[in-house]
Amino acid sequence: MTEAILLAGGKGTRLRPLTVHTPKPMVPAAGVPFLTHQLARARAAGVEHVVLATSYLAEVFEPHFGDGSELGLHLEYVTEEEPLGTGGAIRNAASRLTCAPGDPVLVFNGDILTGLDIRALVATHRSSGADVSLHLTRVTDPRAYGLVPTDGTGRVQAFLEKPRTPEEIVTDQINAGAYVFRRSVIDAVPAGRPVSVERETFPDLLAAGAHLQGMVDSTYWLDLGTPQAFVRGSADLVLGRAPSPAVPGRCGDRLVLPTATVASDAKLTGGTVVGGGARVGEGARVTGSAILAGAVIEPGAVVTDSLVGARARVGARSVLTGAVVGDGATVGPDNELRDGVRVWCDARIPAGALRFSSDA
Ligand code: GTP
Repeated sequence: MTEAILLAGGKGTRLRPLTVHTPKPMVPAAGVPFLTHQLARARAAGVEHVVLATSYLAEVFEPHFGDGSELGLHLEYVTEEEPLGTGGAIRNAASRLTCAPGDPVLVFNGDILTGLDIRALVATHRSSGADVSLHLTRVTDPRAYGLVPTDGTGRVQAFLEKPRTPEEIVTDQINAGAYVFRRSVIDAVPAGRPVSVERETFPDLLAAGAHLQGMVDSTYWLDLGTPQAFVRGSADLVLGRAPSPAVPGRCGDRLVLPTATVASDAKLTGGTVVGGGARVGEGARVTGSAILAGAVIEPGAVVTDSLVGARARVGARSVLTGAVVGDGATVGPDNELRDGVRVWCDARIPAGALRFSSDA
């Protein structure tokens, strides 16, 4: 059975303030830490042994997931004292693998939500005889990504930096953050120093004539690295657009965890999740948003495409669109928060302090 390494040690800077107290893979999406979805999908594909490569806030993973038996997995933790980057983390975690040098090893970035057919990626790896096989996805605007062109047989031709001119956009295929390595390739990565798999290992392998195989598909794919993407991903899990066996309830317009309270005339739509112990008051409207555990949405508030952190409070009649409210923060009544605003953990915004429109 194929073993897997899951990369979970990044600082998640783009997702702050959600990652101030919580490492990115532990931020709840559709009611459970995001990592749960990835672990459950790996298990469903037949993976039994997962090594979690942790670094930033490493201490929170094991108390939550333990030995993995609740998910039917054998889970081990390897922590880097100093972050070793993606390649260094893979090399470091490989000390816990039990497979032989020629065997395939799955590697997943810890912040990707995808419907990838994991078994198909392993099958592609075996049939192509590649040293490393990569899941590739097509994006409509490739400018923000490194590009991975392949030939007619799917063999990777280059790893190109983010394109700066239209001529440099030679493909719409990008690295989707899931790989199969031949184990001996991992063991050859330099130990004890930071290594980037994307910027160093893959280009070096290609230059040395190694066989890197791409598998392109058109399944659901989202990088949850930014707040807007994270909120979208959580809503897509609730709606059932993104597949996961770990959503704690039936997929649909809303997911209300058992210990949450929602006023009978409050409206929850668009894949909204309300976490344990959270409260949504009378007449509130919450659309496509994640309300984390213990948060409070006061009466008449309107929350759209936003994330409200654990124990945070959104005051009466406040309007939030595309906003992130950090854990424990308070947004007083009658505020208007928009488009990418990030309220830091434990911050306090007084009543009626922020507006984007003139007061009618
Ligand atoms: P940003 O700071 O917002 O870019 O996020 P990040 O730190 O998570 O970096 P990035 O999104 O590039 O990381 C991709 C994946 O690799 C994520 O799952 C990270 O948790 C993981 N990762 C990145 N750097 C390290 C590292 O030094 N050690 C370990 N163990 N994992 C890492």
